[in-house]
Amino acid sequence: MNPALDIATSTEVVIPTEKMRCGSPRYDPGGGGINVARVVKTLGGAAFAVFPAGGPSGQSLEGLLARQGVPHIRIPVEGVTRESFTVDEQRSGQQYRFVLPGPSLIETEQRTCLENLAGYLAGARFLVASGSLPPGVRADFFQDVADLAAGQGVRFILDTSGEALRLTRRGVYLLKPSVRELRECVGRELSSEAEQIQAARDLITEKRAEVVVVSLGAKGALLVTERRYERFAPIEVPIRSAVGAGDSMVAAIALGLVRGMELQQAVRFGMAAGAATLMTPGTELCRRDDVEKLYLEQSPNGNT
Ligand SMILES: Nc1ncnc2c1ncn2[C@@H]1O[C@H](COP(=O)(O)OP(=O)(O)OP(=O)(O)O)[C@@H](O)[C@H]1O
Ligand SMILES: [Mg+2]
Repeated sequence: MNPALDIATSTEVVIPTEKMRCGSPRYDPGGGGINVARVVKTLGGAAFAVFPAGGPSGQSLEGLLARQGVPHIRIPVEGVTRESFTVDEQRSGQQYRFVLPGPSLIETEQRTCLENLAGYLAGARFLVASGSLPPGVRADFFQDVADLAAGQGVRFILDTSGEALRLTRRGVYLLKPSVRELRECVGRELSSEAEQIQAARDLITEKRAEVVVVSLGAKGALLVTERRYERFAPIEVPIRSAVGAGDSMVAAIALGLVRGMELQQAVRFGMAAGAATLMTPGTELCRRDDVEKLYLEQSPNGNT
């Protein structure tokens, strides 16, 4: 619902007042859902992206997505699609990420999004909603999306934060909160693994999701279902940029499941995609070779 034109560049050092001369920019179509669709495509799967976009940045975003060969439908909106600006500071190796709120969507635009989504759901195996909601969209919007998916027997994967996460209470197959998002969702500190597992399990008991994958950044991930849980160690890779790690993980989990992997294997595939995304600079996501290599290293008998 809130895509972004991602702009990535670098500069020697970030300082106030003075002009900071930057390297040549890289433009990518971005935002959670768009990233998920791109990664599914990169990994050889079929994804269809449905998103609202407007203004020159919205048109650029659509053009970039088309160039990457991702099938999609753009819902034209009045507002101007946001840009996200990522700057690598060369001297320190630190990365600065500036994320705008996105344009306000009016009620009819939101309704058009839902109507289009309903039309494209037939025949889909999974529906993934990822990222924030733009201003003007009511916080329980993803509940309507979940209900649409449930009504058509399509499994719904949700990766969002804040109120948008808290107010989606039924019809979700898999939730992928980061530990920070889970903490905000349940309103507890979750400092131990046991507490994290309990929080995920509470969501499952309350029927808010069947499966919860908690991503722990540098600490890996947790897979929690009604009856079991598993901790996945992080995959050690040289880190260039963390932009899109979670989105890549979600994309590979969904694709893994479509390809008939067990949940556990699909999460391993997701971890491989998340790690492979860390290896690429700026807003570039993962490369297929890296994902497959990392996946096979983790599960030598695995099959992508
Ligand atoms: N520093 C890291 N080292 C190793 N693996 C990492 C690192 N950061 C991310 N990953 C991998 O990518 C996955 C997703 O990352 P993370 O938990 O940061 O989620 P995210 O959705 O990108 O975060 P957020 O939405 O809060 O910005 C992790 O579960 C892990 O597998
Ligand atoms: Mg995330």
